[in-house]
Amino acid sequence: MPENPFNERHVPKWSDVSQFLTLRAPRLDLNRARLEACADVWDLRRLARSRTPQAVFDYVDGSAASEVTLKRQRDLYSRIEFLPKVLVDVANVRTGVKILGVESDWPFVLGPTGFTRLMNHEGEVGVGAAAARNGVHYALSTLGTTSPEELQRAVPKGRKMFQLYIWRDRSFSRDLLARVKGAGYDTLILTVDTPIAGQRLRDVRNGFSIPPRLTLKTLFDMSLHPAWWFNLLTTPALEFASLSSTGGTVAELIGQVFDPQLTMADVEWLRSEWSGPIVIKGIQSAADAALVAGAGVDGVLISNHGGRQLDRAPVPLEVLPKVLEAVPERVEVFVDGGVMSGGDVVAGLCMGAKAVFVGRAYLYGLMAGGEAGVEQVIRIFTKDILNQMVLLGVDDVAKLNPSMVRVREG
Ligand SMILES: Cc1cc2nc3c(=O)[nH]c(=O)nc-3n(C[C@H](O)[C@H](O)[C@H](O)COP(=O)(O)O)c2cc1C
Repeated sequence: MPENPFNERHVPKWSDVSQFLTLRAPRLDLNRARLEACADVWDLRRLARSRTPQAVFDYVDGSAASEVTLKRQRDLYSRIEFLPKVLVDVANVRTGVKILGVESDWPFVLGPTGFTRLMNHEGEVGVGAAAARNGVHYALSTLGTTSPEELQRAVPKGRKMFQLYIWRDRSFSRDLLARVKGAGYDTLILTVDTPIAGQRLRDVRNGFSIPPRLTLKTLFDMSLHPAWWFNLLTTPALEFASLSSTGGTVAELIGQVFDPQLTMADVEWLRSEWSGPIVIKGIQSAADAALVAGAGVDGVLISNHGGRQLDRAPVPLEVLPKVLEAVPERVEVFVDGGVMSGGDVVAGLCMGAKAVFVGRAYLYGLMAGGEAGVEQVIRIFTKDILNQMVLLGVDDVAKLNPSMVRVREG
């Protein structure tokens, strides 16, 4: 056998050891350091869980009834297989996309979520600021804890859309529209999948209410999450900034606000009231997509509210190809639900979506660390999108198409 020179040994010298030593000065900002140590959104979700009361975490994390809908959406993303092309020049990758007439640096949007300041006191302003800094669009909810005017004042830069619920009292909706327009929002997202509240069983079990009730259980929780409670008690009172009343359980509030009699006539009414782009959110079939497209809207967001409304609702990504066939090309088609990574965004675009909306993923970041946590989610998403595009062999998001994916059998 030949002698192997790598079997010769010597007594280690300092230089042998020092080459492996990289001593870093200790981080002063521990919060940021913990956030930056999160490699994916699931890490941030774990951190979020440790930093917020269980009822708040469950309100975000949970969905309706059996929770099977959200699970199916995530399952479909995990079954998508990319079909890469190699030997392609991908030194420069273009990730920007024009969404309803406005350039976005990235093909995902931070979607509308209500009660945001409950998750972290920095709330909608924190989310909006992180989005604007990174060239990402953000949609403020009617059930936001920051008013459209306040958000615009605090974060004047960046594209913001407004998500509208049409209330039983139409005059209230009309007033709100005027305020939103006055504050400078260009695009409306009308959510149509909430004729009543979904049955969120975790909220029932946790006795979740807004504002939180002080019970023995919540007092005990205070000792486990002192920072969250301190922030809640020492910052401006939590309120639904676009509504005049607060209090009661979420289901009770939604019962007062939402209208089970909403029909196509309301979509037509909105079209006549609002001259800017309108997106209908909560479309779950090709037939409904065709119907609203016929009413002259500019976009449809295929969504089941993240599985929070109808249990056993269709998976948006599965409905997407049929919707694309059913609407004219001028109508932009978006999806949401279960998106937890930049790879999921790329998969959604390959399936034909113009852009993908994100809900819980950025809320996990917000709960984990306020604005800096949202920023970390955006960083994780954008890094992942770039990485997946390069490895897929595509230099422009506009070139992503169905020939680049296949869905594996479950
Ligand atoms: C805590 C929470 C609050 C939400 N509030 C609203 C809302 O006020 N209006 C709305 O149209 N959708 C709302 N949604 C639904 C999201 O816009 C989006 O459809 C859903 O979160 C997408 O699924 P994902 O969370 O898996 O990304 C909410 C979702 C969550 C998780």
